[in-house]
Amino acid sequence: MSPAEEIKSKLDIVEVIREYIQVKAAGVNFQALCPFHREKSPSFVISPDKQIWHCFGCGKGGDVLSFVQEMEGLSFPDTLRLLAPKAGVVLRQESNPEYSKRGRLLDCLESAAKQYVHYLETDAIGQKMKAYLLKRGLSEKTIKEWQVGYGPEQWTALLDYLRSQKFTDQEIFAAGLAGRSERGSAYDRFRDRIVFPIRDVSGALIAFTARVNPDKADTVPGGKYINSPQTEVYDKSRVLFALDKAKKAIKERGFAIVVEGQMDAIACHQHGFTNTVASSGTALTVEQLKLLKRFSNNLILSFDMDSAGQLAADRGIKEAMALDMNIKIIVLPSQYKDPDECLRANPEDFKQALINSRPMMEYYFEKVKSGKDLRKLSDKKEVAGAMLAMIAKFSNKIDRDYWLQRLAENLGISEQALRESLPALKSGKPDLAASLAPAPAAPVLGLNREERLSEILLALLLKSPDFITYSASHLEPDDLSGETLISFYKNLIIYYNKFAVLDYDSFRLYLQEQADGSAEVIDRLALLGEKDYYQHDANQLKTEITQVLLELKRFSLKRKIKSLQDQISAAEAGGESEGMAMLMAEIKNLTEQLNSLRSL
Ligand code: UTP
Ligand code: MN
Repeated sequence: MSPAEEIKSKLDIVEVIREYIQVKAAGVNFQALCPFHREKSPSFVISPDKQIWHCFGCGKGGDVLSFVQEMEGLSFPDTLRLLAPKAGVVLRQESNPEYSKRGRLLDCLESAAKQYVHYLETDAIGQKMKAYLLKRGLSEKTIKEWQVGYGPEQWTALLDYLRSQKFTDQEIFAAGLAGRSERGSAYDRFRDRIVFPIRDVSGALIAFTARVNPDKADTVPGGKYINSPQTEVYDKSRVLFALDKAKKAIKERGFAIVVEGQMDAIACHQHGFTNTVASSGTALTVEQLKLLKRFSNNLILSFDMDSAGQLAADRGIKEAMALDMNIKIIVLPSQYKDPDECLRANPEDFKQALINSRPMMEYYFEKVKSGKDLRKLSDKKEVAGAMLAMIAKFSNKIDRDYWLQRLAENLGISEQALRESLPALKSGKPDLAASLAPAPAAPVLGLNREERLSEILLALLLKSPDFITYSASHLEPDDLSGETLISFYKNLIIYYNKFAVLDYDSFRLYLQEQADGSAEVIDRLALLGEKDYYQHDANQLKTEITQVLLELKRFSLKRKIKSLQDQISAAEAGGESEGMAMLMAEIKNLTEQLNSLRSL
């Protein structure tokens, strides 16, 4: 029997599906509302006899494995890995190389997490950090459940431990747990920091986020929080902190609470708001929203958003509207900085704020109207402009009509007039709009300067891989130009971080496995490096690389500034004045970076 068959034979499909959705007995079969499409009456049927499921609404169906795979968004091997322990089946790792590769990284990360927990208990500073966590209101139970740990103030404590557990340096790098000095020696990535595991939706530990020691907060370089780098198992834009723990409650309660910080999410869970996830301080990405949408269509955001303009500028909110999700906003009493503070001071305040959470559009409307005199034509126009820009983002006609109507009533303007001034509807679906826009024309003789430079950089790095780490620390993948080149650069960083050498053939094989087109350009890039730089020595190469990095950085900053300026123009055209200040501030910041960019 294959492992898949064995797992299937030991699981009961009804019990497994029951963990995800509500299931009702109907004769010999079971019924449910289909989790894969929206419906009001159940057309999702499970047959315990045949151990299969089928939805007569959307046509999807299959066995227990395909259900879990679809629900969790996993690959087939990962689905088996997830279900094996439930079924009491031990997978022979060596039977599948793909598996053991990912499996080894996950094991390495799990092992690290256990050791971080050990340091929190035993290291002298670790114990102080634990006291700090307790003082901040986390319970012993919470600290344990979330496997909060501590990375000691030493260069190779974790490395030494993992090596003693027979993990190779290559695996430790690939897991993102170590960095490499200029001289090539390895060191622990998270030193003297409180460490939180980040798990994917199915609960696999894939990365860490680490908070600065509060006693050293002002003296330590780097941010208050640092994360694992992008690895083969960790893609920041596709993960929501705490979703693995929250998904069941999100489904049961019918909504997700989305907060910004990890500490906020943990505090929420500890206080019983177990349907909470954290975006980890950034705007929500489309991938994250799609992930949430699998569990509920309703989001309640508790973000630090002091003005309506900021709300309007948030890409995540626009994406959520385009995905037809319902968004509400929690407004915390103003003395609290974030949910964590609020819960610590008075959990009842948080509960009230949650109960009083308002539909995002109501909240926005209120904010936009405040301080305006709706009898004055100029104020009317301003409010109408801001609201119309937002209304245009709905992908759903019912929402759009509803708000046009309300706006018309409030402003005493005819609905027809408002409808006619609605910014072109396509702006409600930025992705669609972007995909419909004609691709920028390629210069007749091939590449523009920015693409050309991106190629040169990659050619140089292929020629002298010693500079890959240096390059990675100064230039992000999306600072490059050209989708394939960006993927290539990402792969190069991941690969080199893992193996510390660049074996051409094995790297080429690696690229082919990624199947993202980057394998197609490797030969050209390598040849380009050979052709143009074969006479350069190490010093000349370094000078060359530094210049290219600088110029690319400049291009990238300019590109970002231009895009913000476009956003401002678009907002002005839509009469959306509120988000302006933030956009301006961002432009100012980028411009300063640009001006100070003389050398790296
Ligand atoms: P905050 O600065 O609000 O921190 O960042 P916090 O969550 O309140 O931190 P505590 O309570 O002092 O521990 C909110 C979130 O933004 C991300 C983190 O995910 C953080 O939880 N962040 C913040 C970073 O990723 N890097 C930073 O340097 C700062
Ligand atoms: Mn906080």
